[in-house]
Amino acid sequence: TNHCIGLLVALYALCLWIIPAVVQYSGCLALLWHDVIVEKSLDTVTRTTRPQRLLKAVQDRAIRGNPKSVISVIDHYCRNQEWAMNVGDEKGFILDSVVSELNPQTVLELGTYCGYSAVRIGRLLHSGARLLTLEFNPDYAAVAREVISWAGLENTVQLVEGASGDWIPRLREHFGIHTFDFIFLDHWKEGYLADIKLLEECRLLRKGTVLLADNVVCPGAPDYLEYVRKSPLYDSRYFKSHLEYTKAEDGLEKSVYLG
Ligand SMILES: C[S@@+](CC[C@H](N)C(=O)[O-])C[C@H]1O[C@@H](n2cnc3c(N)ncnc32)[C@H](O)[C@@H]1O
Repeated sequence: TNHCIGLLVALYALCLWIIPAVVQYSGCLALLWHDVIVEKSLDTVTRTTRPQRLLKAVQDRAIRGNPKSVISVIDHYCRNQEWAMNVGDEKGFILDSVVSELNPQTVLELGTYCGYSAVRIGRLLHSGARLLTLEFNPDYAAVAREVISWAGLENTVQLVEGASGDWIPRLREHFGIHTFDFIFLDHWKEGYLADIKLLEECRLLRKGTVLLADNVVCPGAPDYLEYVRKSPLYDSRYFKSHLEYTKAEDGLEKSVYLG
């Protein structure tokens, strides 16, 4: 029995402290550990999903109608309970400063997940401005709707369910959008390049539209980076930071469309 207890204690320490502390420094290992192993195990044991657990934390601890409180509850949960793929607090500050400086009227987000960044952006928009956020996973979309409404932002943030490639060509007609002032790209990284080319083709960008792309280092979007950095259509700059809730390098690429 002593051996068994020793083994259990060692396993507990390994899973709760040692592995999480070590993987913090490597983006790939962190994603493998948090996004595959831990998530699948917790889903099986609790019979809930990560977005549902995140929503529960918001409903239990965040003040209704208070976006700041929703954001800090999610950040606290993801730092202390379980990691999740939100843009996070550190890159979130960069996102905040880009949005505040621009003061956009029309905003598009690709990839809502649980609505964390939608709340972050939505809380900074001035009256009359709106954010359309696209999410193709119906389970994530259902959670995000609850999170956005818990933050009291349902009139500013409109969640659109479906794939970016299907929606982008229909945005103008469906939502009466002429062009976007600001676009946050945070969906699957293989989609970034095709989707900005589609946005260009559909004439949804204007001179001065700002694109901000998350995770350009980890997991990485090399074809997108090469395009915006080399194309004369963009003035592009990298903001170095860390993968959400870790110490591994990641960053945001801000690209201004020159028309
Ligand atoms: C990194 S998460 C978004 C995190 C969110 N922006 C935040 O910071 O809180 C990426 C999300 O994009 C969604 N997604 C991926 N490809 C998509 C596509 N082509 N169209 C719509 N949603 C997509 C995924 O289902 C996932 O929820």
